[in-house]
Amino acid sequence: MGFKGELLVCAILECETMEEMLSSMEKAKEEGADLVELCINSMSFSHISEVEQLLKQRTLPAIVSFRTFCRGDSKKTCLQVLQLALQLNVEFVEIELEVASNVVMTELMNKRSNSKLIVSSYIQGGHLSKEKLGNLVTCLQCTGADAIKLVVDVVYITDVAPVFHMLTHCQIPLIARAVGDRGLISQLLGPKYGAFLVSGSLGGNSIPGLPPLASIKQVYKLEYMDVDTKVFGVISNPVGHSKGPLLHNPAFRHTRYNGIYVPLLVDNVKEFFRVYSCNDFAGFSVGIPHKEAAVECCDEVHLLAKSIGAVNTIVRRPTDGKLVGYNTDCEACISAIEDALRERRITNGQASHASPIAGKLFVLVGAGGAARAMAFGAKSRGARIVIFNRNFERAKALAQAVSGEALPYECLDKFCPENGMILANASAVGMQPNTNQTPVSKDVLGSYELVLDAVYTPRNTLLLQEASEAGAIVVSGVEMFIRQAVGQFKLFTGGLAPEDFMRKIVLEQF
Ligand SMILES: NC(=O)c1ccc[n+]([C@@H]2O[C@H](COP(=O)([O-])OP(=O)(O)OC[C@H]3O[C@@H](n4cnc5c(N)ncnc54)[C@H](OP(=O)(O)O)[C@@H]3O)[C@@H](O)[C@H]2O)c1
Repeated sequence: MGFKGELLVCAILECETMEEMLSSMEKAKEEGADLVELCINSMSFSHISEVEQLLKQRTLPAIVSFRTFCRGDSKKTCLQVLQLALQLNVEFVEIELEVASNVVMTELMNKRSNSKLIVSSYIQGGHLSKEKLGNLVTCLQCTGADAIKLVVDVVYITDVAPVFHMLTHCQIPLIARAVGDRGLISQLLGPKYGAFLVSGSLGGNSIPGLPPLASIKQVYKLEYMDVDTKVFGVISNPVGHSKGPLLHNPAFRHTRYNGIYVPLLVDNVKEFFRVYSCNDFAGFSVGIPHKEAAVECCDEVHLLAKSIGAVNTIVRRPTDGKLVGYNTDCEACISAIEDALRERRITNGQASHASPIAGKLFVLVGAGGAARAMAFGAKSRGARIVIFNRNFERAKALAQAVSGEALPYECLDKFCPENGMILANASAVGMQPNTNQTPVSKDVLGSYELVLDAVYTPRNTLLLQEASEAGAIVVSGVEMFIRQAVGQFKLFTGGLAPEDFMRKIVLEQF
């Protein structure tokens, strides 16, 4: 097993006993790992023979490591373990820089036959400059190691950029990892910058900053990544819940587009764009809480997104590198309503080219980001807009922006001035875990021709169930989700989106 050729996927194993190590190794194998890192310091063993047994029984190639945390007493055990690993011809043996003196390195080199020696450094404390990391890499290289390893504790996602720089410029094979949730992209994008090995975690044993092994193999398919792969991602905080990677990565492969879509845990969106400013960072979904702040980061903002005051998609224009902001939530929601109404009109023989929303009373619940998109969309189609929101001041501000009317939230349940209205829930009411809640009681739902719920977890909310029972056309948040994602994908790739394929994935997996 060497440094050239196919990307190696490594499972990092920290277990207390030999039995646990062996069973985790089996699991790692099943989940697609090519090798394991056996962190021997995590084991509590009374005699070195237990380690010997483990190494002899290993079922995957291994890196044997033993962190001393700079404690003098464990250095002796560390060297004992590493020497044993060399004797047993373990594929990779890792030694910390602090322990790798000239004398120790010479001794280890003399003892090995086929094993490769990795010298590593674990760095605490965030903001590392390229210069500092560069100096450290030089020190690591000077030990004569076959490969070197850097594990960096990062504070912000922008701290990962120097790690990518090192991966690109290092003269010898480098294993690089940024620790913590904000370091996740060090693994997901590492191969683009030349990483020969990425690490992952076992299913059910999540480690911040390490992608699950299964996702490396099935979702991101990092083995296909190369220097030309375009980077896309969702900028959000939190970001772990995002379903975007499950949808956009298969869609890239389906269309043979060389792209990857990753979660981007961003604290400061302006700083993110300042640091990741090259054309390869090609497009972004924007989620909570950055949709408004992201407008300021764009060089150009699509007119509708500008009126809404929020962008959910940013594309870096390939011709001049400028960031262009869009809002695909708006068109997704309005087109879903229009298509559902048109379908019924066609069935009833009343087809027309005008928007079926024009002139309708559009009752909107909520005044947050999704509600703003819906309000401006409905206005653009000539609807009359009434807004109900828990925070009345926000409802008034939005109503004023779209020349609509704001009414007190308490009046929503009695509001039925006419029949055939449209109801759009853009509040979080009814969202998991509060699935037994609904913003509008069943009694008044009969006044609505169509009810849309932006909430998509669960797929069939209580509001939609009751609206359907009341005879209204219902449009789910999942439909809106699919359409906004398709809109984003078209903007990302500058082309068509595999709509049926994306719809199938969402319906199967979400
Ligand atoms: N299907 C899709 O593609 C899609 C796209 C975007 C959003 N969404 C969904 O739409 C919903 C809103 O998202 P957002 O981005 O607009 O969030 P947001 O900006 O945080 O707005 C949240 C809205 O929900 C209201 N709200 C929250 N809890 C409430 C409660 N207990 N009772 C009454 N009102 C409550 C808030 O009222 P206050 O102003 O009083 O706080 C505000 O109007 C979420 O469920 C989200 O998942 C779906």
